[in-house]
Amino acid sequence: MTTGQLIIVDHVVALLSVAAWSAAGATAAGRRARLALGLLAAAVLVTLARVATVAVLAGRGWWFVQEKVLLGLPMLGAVGLTAVLIAGPPLFPARRAPEAGTPANRPATGVVPLLTAGYAALAVLVVTLGAGYPLTWSTALLATSAVGAASLLTARVVPAPVGTVGDADIAPTATPHGAPGFPRRRFLGLAGGAVAAGTGATGVGLSFLPAESVATGGGSGRSSSSAPTVSVADLRGPATPAPGGTRRRYVLTAQTATVRIASGREIRAWTYNGRLPGPPITATLGDLIEVTLRNADIDDGVTLHWHGYDVACGEDGTPGVTQHAVAPGGEFVYRFRADQVGTYWYHTHEASHRGVRRGLYGTLVVTPRRHRPERVDLTLPVHTFDGTVVIGDRDGRTEHLAPAGTAVRLRLINTDSDAHRFALAGTPFRVSAVDGRDLHQPGETRDAGLRLPAGGRYDVVFTMPETPVALVLDGDRAGGVRLRPDDRAGAAGEDTTVADTSGWPELDLLRYGTPGAAPFDAGSRADRHFTMVLDRGVAVVDGRPAYAHTVNGRGHPSIPDQLVAEGDLVRFTVVNRSLDTHPWHLHGHPVLILSRNGTPPSGSPLWMDTFDVRPGEVWEGAFEATNPGIWMNHCHNLPHVQRGMMLRLRYDGVTTPFHGRHS
Ligand code: C2O
Ligand code: CU
Repeated sequence: MTTGQLIIVDHVVALLSVAAWSAAGATAAGRRARLALGLLAAAVLVTLARVATVAVLAGRGWWFVQEKVLLGLPMLGAVGLTAVLIAGPPLFPARRAPEAGTPANRPATGVVPLLTAGYAALAVLVVTLGAGYPLTWSTALLATSAVGAASLLTARVVPAPVGTVGDADIAPTATPHGAPGFPRRRFLGLAGGAVAAGTGATGVGLSFLPAESVATGGGSGRSSSSAPTVSVADLRGPATPAPGGTRRRYVLTAQTATVRIASGREIRAWTYNGRLPGPPITATLGDLIEVTLRNADIDDGVTLHWHGYDVACGEDGTPGVTQHAVAPGGEFVYRFRADQVGTYWYHTHEASHRGVRRGLYGTLVVTPRRHRPERVDLTLPVHTFDGTVVIGDRDGRTEHLAPAGTAVRLRLINTDSDAHRFALAGTPFRVSAVDGRDLHQPGETRDAGLRLPAGGRYDVVFTMPETPVALVLDGDRAGGVRLRPDDRAGAAGEDTTVADTSGWPELDLLRYGTPGAAPFDAGSRADRHFTMVLDRGVAVVDGRPAYAHTVNGRGHPSIPDQLVAEGDLVRFTVVNRSLDTHPWHLHGHPVLILSRNGTPPSGSPLWMDTFDVRPGEVWEGAFEATNPGIWMNHCHNLPHVQRGMMLRLRYDGVTTPFHGRHS
């Protein structure tokens, strides 16, 4: 069973334990002893099952169970055992009593401890779903006090039983409405209430303690304040091309526009230059790319972020960190050398969950200087506008001509916030590059699905056969891209049936290609190691409490910055405790994948800038800190960013003059 499935099973068992304990309490209150006894037995069994699921889950990683092991199970175990000891013995003989004839004034048995076990089970679930990892003292105290308070309240409204352990000498005359009969009972209630309130108040107080603002990952802390600092505003790219290169000038104007796509549908979009996608930016290795960004009428403000391209930090386009967002009427000029070949893309980084979705994106492709280009080289960014999937600038199906024997390169780019599945039918192929970086000796494969994470890119190459080839997207055999060796078939309206690709296994990039040289590997000693546990939970996001997408229990901008020093080898462990997929993306650095769920890649070294961490998965990666700056490190499901899932990776000694909200 995958860890993701185990997490779901554990949630279900947790829910069942809430139901079983509460139902046992409720039936005991209703004086239905036999049913209550059965439910009590069920509750015990479910609780034991929970211990088992947690134990199995613990084998997948401490992150998945910490709050359950340290708080949840001990609390539920203690309260549950008490409930069994108090409620069990009296229920046992009572089960024979004719239920119908039970006098109404006969006190119910064990109701309070049974219901308290229900509250404890609920608290455990709420802590898991609402707070997660890491467990804090604040959460532990709040949960304990909530269970205590609920138990005390219950004791006030439920008639006290005769002769039970805890209340032995208290309540024979307590009324069903809980008016305290004896001073002693009142005293116990008050004392218990005071303890619960004190615990709760301490928990609330602790939650206001200022959190660490910086994580050092085991490396040294910030260097002394006398050390020289550099502002990101000064970390700009070179202003000239490399020798032999040329200057490529672009002007991109962000503007609202109504764009008519192939089907005739009109999309009210946010665009660069009125186009969807924005103008393709292309260059040859060594060129200087110079892009003037203007904003005509996008009130949110805009920037250009060069996704996957390791530009100097001042060119990175992160509003509030590397620049101010460009407001309507404003302008910003980006300059960087085309010193990485491959397939990339650009997009706005201001309110990106809205801006990118509405169309503020385009492609960036850099080719080697001396190479024999494929005769057919298609750049295919996929984007979804209100349910309409657009590949490049067309929806529906696109046809291309590729004579048999032609070398073909398809550059697949996922500009959406969810993964897409591609399948290439009709020819064997290779995935020659991932996220712009070439794979080492990628083998020919066929009949395999390609799952492309949000933000990710694959270059697929093949030699055109004498028969048509279809690129199928998300199983839609009518749409996608068709390549034909000649135009006869298309003209005649004849269409070769495209194979059903839905059952094809997914190509696992961690087992694709052959091992090759990498500057470091899993055995290398890292200078810093950061763990990011991704989850959902209640957290403050941009100053407001929210049901957030969290990193280590916190939301942007309260997640501690990751501090690194230039030259560090930095290791990441990314753990997904949630039921959502999180395409993890670091700006400014390619990340070498070291392992997934503990298994190292057996194929080509795999460099990625965006890797999908699916529910329950644990990924390890590492990178060299060779590009000073302040870099965003975030999930590329952009609505998740807006709900908190973003943090900064900061080089020691780098400061920013820009402040403010940014996503
Ligand atoms: Cu393509 Cu910060 O993102
Ligand atoms: Cu996410």
